Amino acid sequence: MKPGVGPGDDFEAVVGSLRARVRTAPQVHLLLGSGLGGLERVVEVEEDVPFGEVPGMPSAGVPGHAGHFIFGRCEGVPVLVQCGRLHFYEGHPPWVISAPSRIAAALGVKSSVITAAVGGVDRHLRPGDLMVIDDHINLLARTPLPPPAQAADANPFPDMSAPYDAGLQKAAVEQAARLGVRLVRGTYTALLGPSFETPAEIRMVERMGGDVVGMSVVPEVLTLRARGVRVLGFAMVTNMACGVGMAPGAEGADAISHDEVLEVGNRAGAVLERVIRGMLAGGALSG
Ligand code: HPA
Repeated sequence: MKPGVGPGDDFEAVVGSLRARVRTAPQVHLLLGSGLGGLERVVEVEEDVPFGEVPGMPSAGVPGHAGHFIFGRCEGVPVLVQCGRLHFYEGHPPWVISAPSRIAAALGVKSSVITAAVGGVDRHLRPGDLMVIDDHINLLARTPLPPPAQAADANPFPDMSAPYDAGLQKAAVEQAARLGVRLVRGTYTALLGPSFETPAEIRMVERMGGDVVGMSVVPEVLTLRARGVRVLGFAMVTNMACGVGMAPGAEGADAISHDEVLEVGNRAGAVLERVIRGMLAGGALSG
């Protein structure tokens, strides 16, 4: 069997070679989506591993998604920082999409912090807002999980009654309050992308009870929960979703650009970084 992340590959060999590169096993997995590059710069780096160095993984290719793992310490806590992620809309198979989360779980992290840029659907949201994710709706119409008969290292039918850890949500809300940061709670809705949504699709999401929309998060949460890792999810509202809060046909009502997402994401990301660093420093993620 050759080392790799695919079905029939030696996944343990991949994990073993990564483990051998670092002195301390990571305790916390930090998945940095668009706009959170600043957190990367405050990590004391021990090893930097481009996705492409992991057998079977592609180097990520979306602007704003660099595609590498950093092993190191942040606020004294051993961390595995995943800079950038792989999306279903890039055409990757499920085992590639799930590979970074499977690696984090196999390395024994105690918790995972998943971050993502989103469009705001709830009308009380504003661009720049931060939301702690308390539930999700999977409209990707696909799963990163293997067929149950092949789920060797995971729960074949993972429970999803509480995908986002209640204790970590509470710790996040408390940390934000200490810093005077506005942090709301809500439901994340995953759509495939890469196109942004139509006004009718956003009306559907609103009626279903989704507060924000994005093109990621859910695959990672499913993969991590199938392996018992505690998950904390943060959504950064980079724009209001298509048509929300605007008269239909109004100028600018329908235009969302990836550049806008990155620009607002950078600002909101700087605030979110302070919340995550505070949680790390206080032991909330590694305890
Ligand atoms: N829709 C989907 N994904 C997104 C959006 C959006 O409006 N903004 C940032 N990511």
